[in-house]
Amino acid sequence: MDGMNNGLEGVVVAETRLSDVDGARGRLVLRGHAVEELAHTATFEDVCALFLDVTPAQARERLGAARVAAHARLPAYSDDVEPMDALRAALARPGPDDVWSCIAEVALVTSQLASKRRAPLAPDARAAHAHDVLRMSGVDTSDAHVRALDAYFVTVVDHGMNASTFAARVVASMGSDLRSCVVAGIGALKGPLHGGAPGPVLDMLDAIASTPDVPPSEWLLRELAAGRRIMGMGHRVYRVRDPRAEVLERVCASLQGARLELGRVVEREAERLLAERHPGRALKANVELFTALLLDALGFARASFTSLFACARVVGWCAHVGEQRQTGRLIRPASRYVG
Ligand code: COA
Repeated sequence: MDGMNNGLEGVVVAETRLSDVDGARGRLVLRGHAVEELAHTATFEDVCALFLDVTPAQARERLGAARVAAHARLPAYSDDVEPMDALRAALARPGPDDVWSCIAEVALVTSQLASKRRAPLAPDARAAHAHDVLRMSGVDTSDAHVRALDAYFVTVVDHGMNASTFAARVVASMGSDLRSCVVAGIGALKGPLHGGAPGPVLDMLDAIASTPDVPPSEWLLRELAAGRRIMGMGHRVYRVRDPRAEVLERVCASLQGARLELGRVVEREAERLLAERHPGRALKANVELFTALLLDALGFARASFTSLFACARVVGWCAHVGEQRQTGRLIRPASRYVG
């Protein structure tokens, strides 16, 4: 029982062909492609094809059909339900236990709650997935917005053995069904230290913008003095700036209305203050800082940010579940009894 690893940092629990995170150099590879390359060229369907071993045309057809089928079976969620609670409830219902149904259900519930409609809009089976998510959510579907949402989905589709993927793989390793694995992923993603960060990032940016007499550095210092973390900063694996922050910053620059300048100032000041407080630990911007600015510029309310993340990451979870089933071993760590 020696060698306890509290938090499993650096522990390798599986081999994967899906993605690779190089935390020291700040590189993310998705199915052999650098995230910088893929995010600016691929669509959601392209990345589904890469992760789920189909062609992009097959992915588009299956996604369209699955959205229509999911629309027919899902209940309408009332808009006072938290989107992540609705996602968890939707996926926990008995339903088809296949990848496309899971992806479609996450997209539909997210869009319905984003749109604030009691009766969800019907999907368009022929539309591209990102376009349909924007349309069903009731936000602008211009080409620039579709391109930006595709880039976001591609950027966050998978990320090594992140917590929600690990949760999904643990459940898969017990021989459980796919929907149970996805529900586990949703539960982990919901946490503010994982996918729940971009909403609070936007709260922070709004608070800084609405107090022009308090310089950003002063505002951040007060947060740190109160023992709170600066959202959108720091990462368990990256010791340099998260490469996804770079990608999404560039996407934000292509969108009208993205409050990029504010984000950059906050990043610079937060990085400086965190370096003073933690000289031995590089704490730089992570993906959530620019996710918040991007999704805000697309017209989404912050309550939907985490479920939009799930719209993409569900592809990663499903691909990892497939891999775990094929090559993985039952995941069962141990604990040290101190009682
Ligand atoms: N703001 C202030 N302090 C932070 C910080 C942040 N964003 N991130 C880390 N720290 C501090 C920790 O409190 C810790 O301090 P201590 O040694 O005095 O206890 C120290 O830096 C080292 O933290 P670290 O080991 O790197 O954190 P972790 O690996 O356990 O956590 C995160 C990683 C991402 C959860 C953490 O950086 C965080 O909470 N960030 C804010 C939330 C966020 O943006 N999440 C999205 C992740 S993609």
